[in-house]
Amino acid sequence: MGDRPNGSLFSLLEGSSDLPLHLPAHGRGRALAPQLRRLLGRPAASWDLPELPALGGPLEPQGAVAEAQAACATLLGARHCWFGVNGASGLLQAALLGLAPPGSRVLLPRNLHRSLLHACVLGQLEPLLFDLPFDPRTGLWLPPSPAHLERVLAAAAPLQPVAAVLVDPTYQGFGSELGALVELLHGCGAGLPVLVDQAHGDGAALAAGADLVVLSLQKAAGGLAQTAALLAQGDRFDRRAVERSLLWLQTSSPSALLLASAAAAIAHGHSSAGRRQRQQAVGRALRLRKRLAGLGFEIAAGDDPLRLVLATAPLGINGLEADAWLLEHGVIAELPEPGALTFCLGLEPPRGLEKQLPRRLVELRQALGAAALPPFEPPPLPLLARPELGVGEAWRAPAEAVPLAESTGRIAAEPLCPYPPGIPLLIPGERIDAARAAWLERQRSRWPGQIADTVAVVANDRREQ
Ligand SMILES: Cc1ncc(COP(=O)(O)O)c(C=O)c1O
Repeated sequence: MGDRPNGSLFSLLEGSSDLPLHLPAHGRGRALAPQLRRLLGRPAASWDLPELPALGGPLEPQGAVAEAQAACATLLGARHCWFGVNGASGLLQAALLGLAPPGSRVLLPRNLHRSLLHACVLGQLEPLLFDLPFDPRTGLWLPPSPAHLERVLAAAAPLQPVAAVLVDPTYQGFGSELGALVELLHGCGAGLPVLVDQAHGDGAALAAGADLVVLSLQKAAGGLAQTAALLAQGDRFDRRAVERSLLWLQTSSPSALLLASAAAAIAHGHSSAGRRQRQQAVGRALRLRKRLAGLGFEIAAGDDPLRLVLATAPLGINGLEADAWLLEHGVIAELPEPGALTFCLGLEPPRGLEKQLPRRLVELRQALGAAALPPFEPPPLPLLARPELGVGEAWRAPAEAVPLAESTGRIAAEPLCPYPPGIPLLIPGERIDAARAAWLERQRSRWPGQIADTVAVVANDRREQ
């Protein structure tokens, strides 16, 4: 370490890589909103200001931040907009706590981001997890159809959830018939308020009728990491409850730079320069897709052209192994999964992408390709699952590690959650049945290095089956 204890941290930030195809979507600054780029060019950190009266903060009624939030709400068609500096994670938690009082039940999709699970702990909420359609070819969860959601709602009705969450689009860029899904949720029981996790989206969920929408502005817009926005409309939520939760979960010193970045990313995305930038990126992405298809690669048909989902299973390659090989050869992908590898092309894809990526993928196929992997088995999950023990109670309980093979009948004490994508395969409080234990055991070989051979279970659980 010597006199430079942060040597490798700084050299990594200062260095460059051949083909960065990961988030943030601004591509190491290339696609930053011009206003933000100008700000960052000023004398170092001169913009690092506290909540001065003229600036205010996300919960202040007056000041420049309040004005910028109001302007962004108008641009996006929302009634309210709050910026966040702890990512979509922080705002999803505040939004869910704002919708559901302690002890209530919330309807969450199986592909929920782990931050929502954490919200259940913080807010003492009971998650009702609904299963999702599954693609055996890629091993990916798919968005629910309206008919699927209707079945879920029929199963959930006796449990009287007070709010529902949808993820749209998914990390891989798959969209749903969101308007129809929201309508079903609004029409169910007393009318469920709907929070849409649009971490990977652009706010279009508002037009589909969502009550609360969370955007991660580094993922589909050109903001810095940690920047996010919570949008709201209609009267199915209590504004005071949402603002109270924001107060509980946000820092008391939000970074003025990140708040400015949130404002700039939204404004730029809606400007003619921002739209042009996106169009050009999409044009390049579509040409790249065509070229890869011509070379015999299978690219999943998603709804976001800037997310390139390579199906690695048909090549006989696990996505995590493909990722490790590509990393060694200068290509940094965003999201490796057992049957697929997702590249985020960003709002200004790297120069030379159209030549370099196809070349590297051909080399990858030559190096690791084999007979196609067998179809992925869908997880053996009920349409609607309830943890037997409260998530927070199970997570805090004395725990012991048992081999996965011996976990049948025990209650999980920790989530089993490969990261990325940060989607739990098992949540604390769920009782593990034999089919689930066997499935989890098989997932170990699919997620090399990501799933331990033991699982944490609640100790002294006398109700073992
Ligand atoms: C679907 C989804 N929601 C929320 C998040 C959290 O976003 P952030 O990193 O901005 O906290 C992620 C992160 O990957 C995500 O994939």
